Amino acid sequence: MAGINSFLQLLFLLLLFGSLYLKAIKLCLCNNDVKVPCLRIERQALLQFKEAIIDTSHRLSSWHGDDCCGWEGVGCDNKTGHVLKLQLGNPVSLFDDDIASFERSTLSGEISPSLLDLKQLNVLNLSFNNFGEIHIPKFIGYLEKLRVLDLSNSHFSGKIPSQLGNLSNLIHLNLYNNSGIYTENLNWFSGLSSLSYLNLGWANLSTGSTKWLEHVCMLPSLRFLILEHSEIYYLPSSPPNSFGNITSLAGIDLSGNYFNSPIPQWLFNFSSLQYMYLISANLHGPIPDSFSNMTSLEYLDLSFNENITGFIPPSFGKLCKLQMLIVDGNQLTGGLPISLGNLEKLIHLSVADNQLNGNIPESLGNLRHLEYLDLSWNDWEGVLSEIHFANLTSLYFLSLQLPSPMLLV
Ligand SMILES: *[C@@H]1O[C@H](CO)[C@@H](O)[C@H](O)[C@H]1NC(C)=O
Ligand SMILES: *[C@@H]1O[C@H](CO)[C@@H](O)[C@H](O)[C@H]1NC(C)=O
Ligand SMILES: *[C@@H]1O[C@H](CO)[C@@H](O)[C@H](O)[C@H]1NC(C)=O
Ligand SMILES: *[C@@H]1O[C@H](CO)[C@@H](O)[C@H](O)[C@H]1NC(C)=O
Ligand SMILES: *[C@@H]1O[C@H](CO)[C@@H](O)[C@H](O)[C@H]1NC(C)=O
Ligand SMILES: *[C@@H]1O[C@H](CO)[C@@H](O)[C@H](O)[C@H]1NC(C)=O
Ligand SMILES: *[C@@H]1O[C@H](CO)[C@@H](O)[C@H](O)[C@H]1NC(C)=O
Ligand SMILES: *[C@@H]1O[C@H](CO)[C@@H](O)[C@H](O)[C@H]1NC(C)=O
Ligand SMILES: *[C@@H]1O[C@H](CO)[C@@H](O)[C@H](O)[C@H]1NC(C)=O
Ligand SMILES: *[C@@H]1O[C@H](CO)[C@@H](O)[C@H](O)[C@H]1NC(C)=O
Repeated sequence: MAGINSFLQLLFLLLLFGSLYLKAIKLCLCNNDVKVPCLRIERQALLQFKEAIIDTSHRLSSWHGDDCCGWEGVGCDNKTGHVLKLQLGNPVSLFDDDIASFERSTLSGEISPSLLDLKQLNVLNLSFNNFGEIHIPKFIGYLEKLRVLDLSNSHFSGKIPSQLGNLSNLIHLNLYNNSGIYTENLNWFSGLSSLSYLNLGWANLSTGSTKWLEHVCMLPSLRFLILEHSEIYYLPSSPPNSFGNITSLAGIDLSGNYFNSPIPQWLFNFSSLQYMYLISANLHGPIPDSFSNMTSLEYLDLSFNENITGFIPPSFGKLCKLQMLIVDGNQLTGGLPISLGNLEKLIHLSVADNQLNGNIPESLGNLRHLEYLDLSWNDWEGVLSEIHFANLTSLYFLSLQLPSPMLLV
């Protein structure tokens, strides 16, 4: 036994040194692989940043020694040694892990303006930490190379500094779920000429919210707009003078606002939308037939508007990329269109809690990818065996809770 063990050890050592030797050769051969260590002034800035942070789980324990490029969460340009990234989002998930370890692993304290010495900083991610309702520092607006700013879920409050509008290189801005933040106006949007992803979900935009759409249309590169639960009370019925270039919008989420309006026609000018979430947004009236032109749609959720009425338009059957269709919790009447059976990609179909009636169409039996089907709390008539479940091999959730008895054959 001892013989085999030492043989394996020897083999291991040979392999280890062999690979180190190869790496060494590679380093010597291609000089541009050699990493420049981090710059003294930037290292100093990071140490000052660390000093102002409370780090109970010692996430930043690797932050000592000379080469700050090797520190946890720090990413450098290997050629110049400049710090490019600070990825300090909480590594423990609020949703998948237990809440105690999540909380233990949050950073808190102050955010030192020493970060301004990181002249090339591209990415600043402080998400899922707990900054105890401090304001978003104004100086972040002067980190002019910033491309990604993620301060989501981090307990910031106060006015969103308009200085963020100076970040003309910013591509991704996420301030989601800092329930204490607000803006007085959105004039600062005009400087965000590179912005592609904007998430101000749960920020309070109620002041000056009648102009939100005009300001959004000033963002020429915008692809994803998330203004969920943003205290918006006004949904313009006519479009702004110009949509600028944002007609290439790919995703919009305006859920949880208080629009008290019909679904506006201008939404359909964003004809490349792939997802549209208008959940619980206080919309009323019919589902416009204009949806038939939205052939890029993959995810559509109009649930819990309570007062959306009329039919599910048969033209939904043209949305051939649709993977998810949810219209729960409205006052839809009429039958399920037979054409829904054309939606080959559909995975999730949910029409619960409406006043739909008639027979459930046989065509649903074509939805080979369907995993989730909720037909409950409607006024169906007839015999369910008309759906041929034989083809629905992916189905794992089926709910048919019925207010009135129905024959299940
Ligand atoms: C620097 O090098 C490391 C590994 O040597 C690599 O993981 C990292 O992506 C490089 N960073 C940049 C910005 O190229
Ligand atoms: C920021 O960090 C969090 C947690 O580590 C991560 O989930 C998120 O994707 C990061 N954000 C960006 C924009 O990379
Ligand atoms: C940054 O933004 C503020 C507030 O919007 C503005 O007053 C200031 O002139 C801007 N600074 C630069 C350098 O653009
Ligand atoms: C917002 O953050 C809090 C923790 O601060 C969390 O409990 C809550 O689930 C988050 N809300 C959303 C919508 O993510
Ligand atoms: C949002 O801001 C408005 C105006 O400041 C205020 O009246 C309202 O109470 C705020 N909403 C929430 C939920 O804090
Ligand atoms: C809109 O896009 C066109 C071409 O892609 C570009 O020339 C123009 O400058 C853009 N307009 C704005 C307001 O960014
Ligand atoms: C919206 O689309 C309609 C119909 O395609 C078009 O007539 C109208 O000019 C568009 N509006 C704007 C502001 O682009
Ligand atoms: C639906 O309409 C009724 C009657 O007009 C109204 O009382 C109720 O507040 C509306 N619900 C929503 C969510 O708008
Ligand atoms: C769909 O688009 C075509 C061409 O852009 C337009 O003529 C038609 O009116 C649109 N249909 C609806 C229902 O909006
Ligand atoms: C089941 O799928 C097959 C092949 O796609 C199709 O020919 C058949 O009509 C489907 N049956 C039902 C009941 O939908």
